[in-house]
Amino acid sequence: MSDKKPSGLQDVVVAQSSICYIDGQRGQLVYRGYDIDDLAENASFEEVAWLLWNGNLPTQSELSGLQQDLAAAMHFPKHLLELLKELPFDANPMRVLSIATAALGTLDPDADDLSPEANRKKAINLTAQLPLITTAWHHVRNGTEIPQPKADKSLAYNFLWMLNGAPPDDYAVRTFDAVLILHADHELNASTFSARVTAATLSDLHSAVTSAICTLKGPLHGGANEAVMQMLQEIGEVENVGRYMEKLRADGKKVMGFGHRVYKAKDPRAKILEKMSEELGKRAGDTKWFEMTRAVEEIFQPQVAAKGIYPNVDFYSASAYQVMGIPRDLFTPIFACSRVVGWTAHLLEQYANNRLFRPSSDYIGETGRKYTPLASR
Ligand code: ACO
Repeated sequence: MSDKKPSGLQDVVVAQSSICYIDGQRGQLVYRGYDIDDLAENASFEEVAWLLWNGNLPTQSELSGLQQDLAAAMHFPKHLLELLKELPFDANPMRVLSIATAALGTLDPDADDLSPEANRKKAINLTAQLPLITTAWHHVRNGTEIPQPKADKSLAYNFLWMLNGAPPDDYAVRTFDAVLILHADHELNASTFSARVTAATLSDLHSAVTSAICTLKGPLHGGANEAVMQMLQEIGEVENVGRYMEKLRADGKKVMGFGHRVYKAKDPRAKILEKMSEELGKRAGDTKWFEMTRAVEEIFQPQVAAKGIYPNVDFYSASAYQVMGIPRDLFTPIFACSRVVGWTAHLLEQYANNRLFRPSSDYIGETGRKYTPLASR
């Protein structure tokens, strides 16, 4: 018998990877050798996708080729639309996204082809399709018309266009593009690990991405951005923050959007999102959500600094999305629309050098029991 606390695989190295590096003490995040601040400031999401999949930034002709491939994949299969229309309109969008991703596997003739070429193509297709599904679901459940994607525009532009049916302004597109870059990869986080575990059985890429979506959904992982927004909506006004935080503390509840298994400093993505959230609020003339978020940080941070708990990526993304007019239950699907790039980069790496994941457990159950007939129990 063991009294060891379950490890949650903390600090256990389960793979070698050349995709993403995190320095949790210094609060540094690096994709393929490039610092996240540099990429968020200067790159496009499409460039970052190419970088994560291929290891280097694309040349102009490689980028143009990728943009053409993404545009070609931006169409919504008729069968899928019919399937979405059959689902209950109050279904959780992450559940819808996982159903639709699994269904896309049934519509792809190469679904079970695990060659690098086929998997690369599927990675591009899913990167174009997840934003389509997310925004189409929004219209299906509201009974509104689905705007057609624009082949000459970026994924960021298309997401905002297809969600709202109105051309987004340049600042919104640039901000959303940076949001997608910030969420694109994060080493062996729970959803990426679950994607790799699925792929390591030599199951297919659609199945592995479906696993990842289901894992991202939880409030301890990607679902935290929705939980942060729920908290802000419950707080309601800046002047209520202190009282709300006191109650949370008295009830011994966690503050969503705080804490991270790896970072023991402020998450570098949170720093960038904090600035974006403030600027978006100012531009929209609605700084309430940002101010509430900052007030929560100012009260809570000193209480937990000694434990190395700081705001994570989900903390300031909530107020940023809110000001962009994005419905709360689409926050986590947006995370998936970006992270699909990281998941598939890890899947390409996994398939290229595969070994089944099969950890062990420390058995703490009964031993030596003998079967008792039903009548004697
Ligand atoms: N609020 C209050 N206390 C916290 C928080 C929090 N958000 N996070 C951790 N702690 C405390 C725990 O209560 C625990 O305290 P104790 O040692 O006194 O018991 C200690 O810090 C360690 O926490 P664990 O939950 O054991 O740490 P773990 O590494 O397993 O958890 C996690 C990391 C799940 C992210 C956690 O910090 C958490 O639940 N945060 C809130 C949910 C959240 O924001 N998730 C998004 C993470 S980022 C992402 O996945 C995209």
